[in-house]
Amino acid sequence: MTVRVGAALAHSNIALSKYWGKRPYEGNYPATPSLSLTLDALTTRTRVRFDSSLRADQFTLNGEEQADAPRARVSELLTRLRVASGTDAFAEVVSSSDFPAAAGLASSASGFAALALAAVSALGLDWEIARVSDLARRSSASAARSLYAGFVELPAGPEEVTRDLLSAYAVAPRDHVDWRLVVAVAGDGSKAVGSTRGMNETSRESPYYAAWLDLAPRLHAELTAALAVRDFERFGAATEQSALAMHASAIAIGVVYWSGVTLDALSAVRKLRATGTLAFATIDAGPHVKVLCRAADANVVCTHLTAVPGVTRVIEARAAEGARVIPTEEVP
Ligand code: DP6
Repeated sequence: MTVRVGAALAHSNIALSKYWGKRPYEGNYPATPSLSLTLDALTTRTRVRFDSSLRADQFTLNGEEQADAPRARVSELLTRLRVASGTDAFAEVVSSSDFPAAAGLASSASGFAALALAAVSALGLDWEIARVSDLARRSSASAARSLYAGFVELPAGPEEVTRDLLSAYAVAPRDHVDWRLVVAVAGDGSKAVGSTRGMNETSRESPYYAAWLDLAPRLHAELTAALAVRDFERFGAATEQSALAMHASAIAIGVVYWSGVTLDALSAVRKLRATGTLAFATIDAGPHVKVLCRAADANVVCTHLTAVPGVTRVIEARAAEGARVIPTEEVP
């Protein structure tokens, strides 16, 4: 019997320029470039134990044994790694997040980043972080970004079919600017339509998908340029536009992630701007509103979002480090 163990920690990330849509070929290559901020708000710790005596992969998440789709998705990543490394042992995966999953914020980003790094570490593979990011991307593209600290870009995949490595990379360290992301949790947020399905339906059916594909790289370039010169207002305006355009393309076919609370929180953000506090909203595949602001304005932003009826919790998130290998005992 051979046993090999490794563990890793990864933080979530929130995209400020959004990935929404995939290239129309195998391999989970994004159709749009994205730019994210790695955040300390949610941390996932994962331990992977390859054991030649196991008959199948096992996956325990926050103390509960998983079956069906969640386990299959974990198994797919492990199988990619088994093929790449010539291993045939199954693995036991134990993962836990420090944020209550019921709040609906638990993201696949920190999960697949931690899993990829823990599994590569367990097998003792001498992989560069870019290769680990590519492995995570094939399971969930947003996870490719969580391997890195601070502001991170994941380019779009090439237009022509490829099987090449496509990884994220850091564009600015976490202390490049002192900006915060305030998360307004809008109810329990269990997703009606997951992000994979939502973007696939948008790309197949939305009359506005072509417009989104046209606009997204331009907004992305605007964000990147504004970040380089630390222009908060320009960066924030493009952030909000990216989220609104992405959701417009989805809403056009009835893929609606927003609730009444989302709209009220958006309006609170607009009111803040009208009264001189620079704050800009972004929204992912759920009802929660994440508000980008300067550190000095974080308190006033938190106060205004807490006052929105239906907002159950407000979390102030800061830029965090990328994923890292941790001692196996650190996974509860
Ligand atoms: C709205 O990375 O969850 O959060 O690659 O299909 O797993 P898959 O999708 P996923 O999509 C994230 C969508 C988003 C925007 C973003 O994070 O860029």
